[in-house]
Amino acid sequence: MALIEFEHVFKRYPGSSNAAVDDLNLHIEAGEFLTLLGPSGSGKTTTLMLLAGFEAPSAGAIRLDGKSIESLPPHQRNMGVVFQSYSLFPHMTVAENVAFPLSVRKVDKSVIAEKVTAALGKVHLENFTHRKPNQLSGGQQQRVALARALVFEPRLVLMDEPLSALDKKLREEMQLEIRRLHRELGVTMVFVTHDQSEAMTLSDRVAVFNQGRIEQLATPQALYDAPANPFVANFLGDNNMLNCTLAHGAPGGAAGGVRTASGQLLQARICATTAFENEATVKLCVRPEFLQVAAECAALATPNCLNGSLVDLIHQGDHWRVVVRLASLESGPHSAPLQWFAKVSPGALPPGLVVGQNVSLGFRPEDAWVF
Ligand SMILES: Nc1ncnc2c1ncn2[C@@H]1O[C@H](COP(=O)(O)OP(=O)(O)OP(=O)(O)O)[C@@H](O)[C@H]1O
Ligand SMILES: [Mg+2]
Repeated sequence: MALIEFEHVFKRYPGSSNAAVDDLNLHIEAGEFLTLLGPSGSGKTTTLMLLAGFEAPSAGAIRLDGKSIESLPPHQRNMGVVFQSYSLFPHMTVAENVAFPLSVRKVDKSVIAEKVTAALGKVHLENFTHRKPNQLSGGQQQRVALARALVFEPRLVLMDEPLSALDKKLREEMQLEIRRLHRELGVTMVFVTHDQSEAMTLSDRVAVFNQGRIEQLATPQALYDAPANPFVANFLGDNNMLNCTLAHGAPGGAAGGVRTASGQLLQARICATTAFENEATVKLCVRPEFLQVAAECAALATPNCLNGSLVDLIHQGDHWRVVVRLASLESGPHSAPLQWFAKVSPGALPPGLVVGQNVSLGFRPEDAWVF
């Protein structure tokens, strides 16, 4: 049995016409690290609030260990919560902040002292007990918030974008810290972010939210390698897209074909969920790291090749970003010129490329998806 079960949960805020959470079905396993990932307004925080008990569902059931918890107040749910802003009590010291969940539970003073020391040790802040929050860096405050969420040994820790206020380096350090704590403590974690690389770093599974619904729930690798639809393909990792018509193949088939607006036939995999009908309008998706760049198609070994002109060549440290305007592929008088980009490792870039010249982009059929 799953630790947490959402069954057909809806949440409609008063005065709002759309459901913030729209028929949510979600099982969370004990011990897992689950991330809710999605754009702003997609219902991530609302889902966390429903779980923590700060909001009540408009319909549906939420169960913990198989028992309904809708009528259980937040403090009886035994969940540690870390919000986006650190929300430490400014007038309390670090030790007092961390002790708070234990004092409200009327835990014995000597036990509190012991647990606070242990919790601060876990986040490497044992030497900061007497400081006030405003005497700490953002990352240290975040770690205090984490210690406070862990100190009463909850089975479930909920975190709502806890790292979004930190700079990139500190954020990456804290991600590793949270990963370590999850492994060491074996606690179940539900983490909200709209940062895809953060989701991929931390999670056993990721639920991709869009407009109050889950588009796909899978391991980070499965989401990346086999996205269920263009929304997921675009939200996790970069993607180049092209509108085409379906020429041949079958749903889920590895060897399909699509025709571009200029009549060129390309080979690709047909996603299992594609609404399948010959001549149907579909989207071809290719990730930039799967594109090869050459001065002409003849120099590429891939069956698929698109011609265009080089718009920009940007050095990004570990790779080159090669921006290419594709030749006459979007039909119609109002369509903007279509640009694709490739990520090319420094050694794989053809020498002597100049902006404005003709270039070709090649890709293997197995690296192209049709939705
Ligand atoms: N208290 C509220 N009253 C009315 N509507 C709300 C309330 N809280 C959220 N909403 C609406 O519910 C929807 C989902 O909001 P939610 O805060 O869950 O999104 P989110 O995915 O956490 O977004 P973000 O990434 O911006 O934090 C949004 O359309 C939002 O405007
Ligand atoms: Mg939110």
